[in-house]
Amino acid sequence: MSTAPRSYARKVIQPEMTVRQVAVDFPASQEVFRRYGERDSPPARFGHLEPLGHFAQRCGVRLDALLAELATATGAPVESSGRFAERAHHGFILSALAITLTLGAGWGAWLLWQIATQGRFTGVPAAYVIAHGEAQLWGFIVLFVMGVSLRTVMQGAVRIPGGVWVCRAFLALALVGVGGGVMWSVLPEASVSAGLMSAAALVLLSVGFLGLQFVLLRGKWRDTWTRAVLASGFWLVAWACVTAWLRWNAGAAGPGVYTNEQRLLIIELAVFGFAMNSIYGFGQMLLPGLLRIGSTRDWAIELGQWLHNGGTLVLCAAAALGGSGVAMVAGSVLLVGGAALFAVGHRGFVGRRRTSHGEEKGHVVLDFYPPLAFFWLLAGLALMAGGVAYESANGTPLPHAYVGAVRHALTVGFMTTLILGVGQRLLPVLDRTVLAIPRLAVVIFVLIGTGNLIRVVTELATLVTPVAYPLMPISAVLEWTALLLFTVNVAATMFHRDPLLRRGRVTGRSSLAVLLGEHPWIENRLRPIGTRYLERTRSVPEELTLGTFAESEGIEPAGLVAEINEWLATGPAAGPQQCVGGASGATVGSDCASR
Ligand code: HEM
Repeated sequence: MSTAPRSYARKVIQPEMTVRQVAVDFPASQEVFRRYGERDSPPARFGHLEPLGHFAQRCGVRLDALLAELATATGAPVESSGRFAERAHHGFILSALAITLTLGAGWGAWLLWQIATQGRFTGVPAAYVIAHGEAQLWGFIVLFVMGVSLRTVMQGAVRIPGGVWVCRAFLALALVGVGGGVMWSVLPEASVSAGLMSAAALVLLSVGFLGLQFVLLRGKWRDTWTRAVLASGFWLVAWACVTAWLRWNAGAAGPGVYTNEQRLLIIELAVFGFAMNSIYGFGQMLLPGLLRIGSTRDWAIELGQWLHNGGTLVLCAAAALGGSGVAMVAGSVLLVGGAALFAVGHRGFVGRRRTSHGEEKGHVVLDFYPPLAFFWLLAGLALMAGGVAYESANGTPLPHAYVGAVRHALTVGFMTTLILGVGQRLLPVLDRTVLAIPRLAVVIFVLIGTGNLIRVVTELATLVTPVAYPLMPISAVLEWTALLLFTVNVAATMFHRDPLLRRGRVTGRSSLAVLLGEHPWIENRLRPIGTRYLERTRSVPEELTLGTFAESEGIEPAGLVAEINEWLATGPAAGPQQCVGGASGATVGSDCASR
């Protein structure tokens, strides 16, 4: 069985909790709610499915006053940083996407165009290629992983007092690190201090992140996924220190003087050390559920992780110390073994068929992203192992086109495809909503899949014929467009407003939780038409749409939507009612008393 993380919920009262949830968890709170007019309504449990924030607003009492009353009545601690904590990843994800569209893939597309028009890979300055690579790795991959971490396994760090500032400091350090690095790469003589200061920012960021990982996860170190996540933190620190050391040595000459081994070392630490350990750690937690794989083969995942980190260590040592070709071959073979075992542990990433087509599950095409990504991982690592074996047997260095194609298969074919697929499935869940434009996932899949295939094939083909050069930029257009559409879908999901809030009417895609939060009286109307779920539950997940809710309760969705819109048009049955004032003594026109 997979070792999924345990719940991080503590017994605290938060503004997002529903009245019923608080009433069930802390029975002493019922007295407070009763003072405001909340009534028993059997057979449902006490209290409506209305978040505390809405309840306070409707009853004309300040939220902090209500929370204070609840804390006094129940003796439970109150936590009000909930909203920021739930959005902690937004700044990271949006910055990651802005960077990849500009300094990352945007700049990469321009570099590829230059290479294509000149018909040679040396046609662009090495410093620019390195700057593009660092922007992608630090700005896109690291920010994405950090954002998701702070919203999931490291959410505890955001919820402590001052957690907001920890998040902001991490984001600021990352932006300084990426911005300063690019400035130094382009104008090394004029910006030596920017290069060094940005490197120091990256070291601080990585040490701080590892420190937090250690504090939050050390109690769970026996779980395989935790060790993968912690390993990613260790590799991140090593990568940042190597980056700082290289910048210090290069000084006013800029990154153009890095040797091929030094460039390789940076990429190995970033891709095999940080990124793949993060993917293996998070993958073990998320993929079985997302792909309905069921139980995982933990022995394979565990062994694969050891092989992967052993291989990474051997490869990095070989790049740093100028190790032998044998070491390179051994390291690559270990990585292939690790990836193959990860796939075996996840039963080839082929899960059970979907039993429900509810929008919360995302578009069916999202199931195809992980297998495609892992295909490219295995293909890329196999090409790499074959390449270094050939290199050590013949004693001639591999051509740039071969190395570039393998690297692209790993960074775009594997990592980016996985981020785009899992991102469109996971980010809506983190925002407790559904993906804004589900069909875009199909277009993005086709664009990233075709773009990467064209890039790997045409880059390899330049070894045989120069005709392949002008074809390479086609891949850049497709991949950049995929990233742009992904950004559109993610931003539309993050800033999504429910149709009810925009137009005052619901659709099949409206959130049931939003409806019940805005109009708690609708719950009373829904119960008699057979919705037992509403009597049992303590809170409704915000991503549950009316359409899926209706289907699961055996009600015809279109009919239910029409009926609710009719109710909304006429409003709660009885005339203006009073919400009984609590500590504030306020009264407002409301339906409280009619319950
Ligand atoms: C539209 C998408 C992209 C384009 C057009 C692009 C273009 C390029 C080009 C032209 C090069 C230099 C030539 C070569 O080695 O093949 C390069 C290198 C590189 N790219 Fe990209 N790239 C893209 C996406 C990415 C992504 C998503 C990542 C990482 C997540 C990435 C990481 C790298 C790295 C690490 C290097 C090598 C840097 C070095 O040699 O030091 N690229 N890319």
